[in-house]
Amino acid sequence: MNILFAVSEAEPYAKTGGLADVAGNLPRALAERGHHLTLFLPFYQEIRRQDLALDEVSRITVPLGTEAVPGVVLEKIEPDFPGCRTFFIRQDDFFDRPHLYGPPGEEYPDNGRRFIFFCRAILEAVGRLGLEVDIYHAHDWQTALLPVYLKTLYRNLSTASGAVSLFTIHNLGYQGIQEKEIFPLTGLDWSEFTYEKLEYYDQLNLLKGGLVYADTLNTVSPTYSREILEPEFGFGLEGVLQQRRNDLFGILNGVDYNVWDPAVDPYISPHYRIGRMSGKKRCKEKLLRACGLPVMNARPLVGMVSRLVNQKGFDLILELLDAIDRFDCAFFFLGTGEKEIEKRLADRARACPEKISFICGYDNRLAHQLEAGADIFLMPSAYEPCGLNQMYSLRYGTVPLVRAVGGLNDSITDFNPATGRGNGFKFSPYTTEALAATLERALALYRKPRLWWKLRGNGMRCDFSWAASARQYEELYRQMKSLPGRPVEKQ
Ligand code: ADP
Ligand code: GLC
Repeated sequence: MNILFAVSEAEPYAKTGGLADVAGNLPRALAERGHHLTLFLPFYQEIRRQDLALDEVSRITVPLGTEAVPGVVLEKIEPDFPGCRTFFIRQDDFFDRPHLYGPPGEEYPDNGRRFIFFCRAILEAVGRLGLEVDIYHAHDWQTALLPVYLKTLYRNLSTASGAVSLFTIHNLGYQGIQEKEIFPLTGLDWSEFTYEKLEYYDQLNLLKGGLVYADTLNTVSPTYSREILEPEFGFGLEGVLQQRRNDLFGILNGVDYNVWDPAVDPYISPHYRIGRMSGKKRCKEKLLRACGLPVMNARPLVGMVSRLVNQKGFDLILELLDAIDRFDCAFFFLGTGEKEIEKRLADRARACPEKISFICGYDNRLAHQLEAGADIFLMPSAYEPCGLNQMYSLRYGTVPLVRAVGGLNDSITDFNPATGRGNGFKFSPYTTEALAATLERALALYRKPRLWWKLRGNGMRCDFSWAASARQYEELYRQMKSLPGRPVEKQ
């Protein structure tokens, strides 16, 4: 099949979170199954700086309200892997900026305009280049207009070829809500601006457009696909999702074990693997030095790499840190995001430098080193569509401690010392006490090396490689095109 990925970030080009991991790896896994992939990304400043070998393949003019905005379509000359072409949409006024969406914790005020342009530019490019597409696969609010356009202004692109669209919800918490004054920029008729379609409390809700118009919807874990039908997780869109529940699937993300595996990870040394774990101890010592904590190898180290946003459970964590004396362990946080969370974490680290370290920033190398060097990985998320770090942690023998939501619930099972089954620690109520009690349980088990090794080994043996997810996406695409294949089970 010819599959077009429209996405606002992808490894190895530009990344702020897990969306980039997915958009960097799922196309590869699909291409390995014999499909033809085309990836479209904005040409951000960060990408321009990479000096990639690029070809200018087309110049386009994109209607944006009353304006006609020029754009350039660039193609990467050397494909990253066989079967995948990568195109960048260049429009320097929109994308030649220091950040993808805005400085940490902020949004560029014209993000609506930027991504309306991006969606339309992709479809203009498809027409200009005569690309054959069977499946348009859009992701999150930034590309949610694509399915809308395919049923309206660009209907010709889908009707002739029978192309269909899949919209993947990576995070319902970000909906791309815009003042209704910018609606005319979309070029859509005002009849689309209704309660059933793109209007949301008198504003323009781009994500909602994707939910209403895409032929099929999915989210990045089975549990999240059910949770978002309820008000607690639906962010106000649960009604729309309930209407589409028969078209809504859940497919868990995967892990790229070419880089997220301590046996081969290019960012850590020494390497280690199950059965040869001495390297992990060295990684821990190095990490403790790097983050300025005392090098006490016997004391458990609890780590976390995260965007610093409320979604990730920082209200619970900050309260937990207020009772730091209760826990015989050290904490290391790496992250960037909301200023208030950055400040409060920095305050806690300053008050207790023997036990708490916080590095404010985005650092991929250090993220890998943290996965290798920590003993426990913390993810007490309020909600978590999938979450990748818990799956990375498993492979590193770093035991995940998670809240039982979304993909965390689907990938982690609570360890039962009596049976020796389970790969992590899991709790449900969103309370500091539940988190603290689970941490105490984990720290107690850490003092029982045989059980700890068992638990660690269970995690290291788990396999969440992309191949399994790619197979499910392939089945979903086939189902959408009504091609023979094994049906994807509704979860
Ligand atoms: P989300 O997409 O909600 O941020 P995920 O768990 O799906 O959460 O993915 C987060 C990804 O971003 C992981 O690959 C993680 O290692 C990476 N990441 C997040 N914050 C940082 C940071 N400060 N430095 C390096 N990598 C980070
Ligand atoms: C989102 C979610 C995260 C998920 C990622 C990739 O950013 O917050 O849970 O893993 O997208 O799908």
